[in-house]
Amino acid sequence: MKVGIGRERHEGERRVAATPETVLQITALGVDVLIESGAGTAAGHPDAAYTEAGASVVAELPLADLDVYCHVRPLTPERAAQLHPDQITIGLAAPAAELPTVAALARAGATAFALELVPRISRAQSMDALTSQALVAGYRVVLEAAIRFPRFFPLYMTAAGTIPPARVLVLGAGVAGLQAIATAKRLGARVSAYDVRPASADEVTSMGGTFITLDLDAIEGVGGYARELSEDRSVRQRELLAPYVAAADVLITTAAIPGRPAPLLVTREMVAGMRMGSVVIDLAAESGGNVEGVIAGQDVSVRTSADDGVVTLVGMKDTASTMPADASRLYAKNVANLLALMTHDGQVTPDFTDEVIAGSCLTHAGEVRHAPTAAALTAAALNGEH
Ligand code: NAI
Repeated sequence: MKVGIGRERHEGERRVAATPETVLQITALGVDVLIESGAGTAAGHPDAAYTEAGASVVAELPLADLDVYCHVRPLTPERAAQLHPDQITIGLAAPAAELPTVAALARAGATAFALELVPRISRAQSMDALTSQALVAGYRVVLEAAIRFPRFFPLYMTAAGTIPPARVLVLGAGVAGLQAIATAKRLGARVSAYDVRPASADEVTSMGGTFITLDLDAIEGVGGYARELSEDRSVRQRELLAPYVAAADVLITTAAIPGRPAPLLVTREMVAGMRMGSVVIDLAAESGGNVEGVIAGQDVSVRTSADDGVVTLVGMKDTASTMPADASRLYAKNVANLLALMTHDGQVTPDFTDEVIAGSCLTHAGEVRHAPTAAALTAAALNGEH
């Protein structure tokens, strides 16, 4: 069987779905690996390293001849339409955002596995790309904040005077938020954090952060995820957060609800209420943003309400891609581990009675297997889209 690794075509994408290390892992399963020339260059892996690991480097992937196609970014609808019913794809699919691609995958009859859908159970942790990429992003956002912040993060007691530590506030303490807390702590900042899930309090504390409790009823949905707040509770949440935001030097927001736009946690007025020189980094900028006025991929200057300067509001974009070597190292392992789960005696034969395989399957045999995505597609079809 042939497993193909594509060169990523999306502008700004520098990750790759296989490293020489995972090529060794995949070929040991008894399948052949084909990789498009240059696919790993930005992640630090030249073609020669793949050849040495046992892959065949090709100028262009022969899509029609592949049994499995591994990728990082969701396929374009055009590429998905080229697939045929015996083919399997493994990669990020962003099902809620990329409905035309999901429709094309289903029409092509391909079996598509979306890494976002890997169940969050212990057995599947090694295949969980949301976690591995959030870890990279959570680390990176703190560095982005530190280089824009005009002051130190750590406390310095010097002969020339004492410099107090920066106060970092993290909103949303999932995988990325916890990593941000740990990284800011390592840089010496004083860190506090808030999440709508009370279960995250212990995790925040164990990372060295101070957990902020608001007078807002706890809400936790299925699978340990947060649920969307009603509008009046969102308003209340913002009111209660306002003094904490005003006291912060650096604000990092990472709040998300799976399959939904990011919740608005911070208004423009709250940003303007911060001290001049403060930095706000919104990791959720690409999915609507946690901060009003954020623009993904841009720095925006917000005038303070005291009118004495500006606060820098940063909209993160393609965050995991900014560290392509380690992001790819983890991502490629996630892909190889899922592929290994469905490979037996050199044949890739997904067993749909396995909850990890069934749970991560997006399309199969012409059907959309993920119920929320199927419902979204039906609704879009009723509106005359896709
Ligand atoms: P996520 O990326 O979907 O969301 C980030 C954080 O935003 C979450 O902690 C969420 O509670 C928070 N949030 C949502 N709305 C908010 C609001 N209005 N105000 C404040 N915070 C808000 O979450 P992520 O990082 O994917 O983790 C979600 C859950 O999955 C966590 O409970 C985590 O521990 C769990 N998990 C389990 C794994 C496993 O068992 N294998 C692996 C990774 C995560």
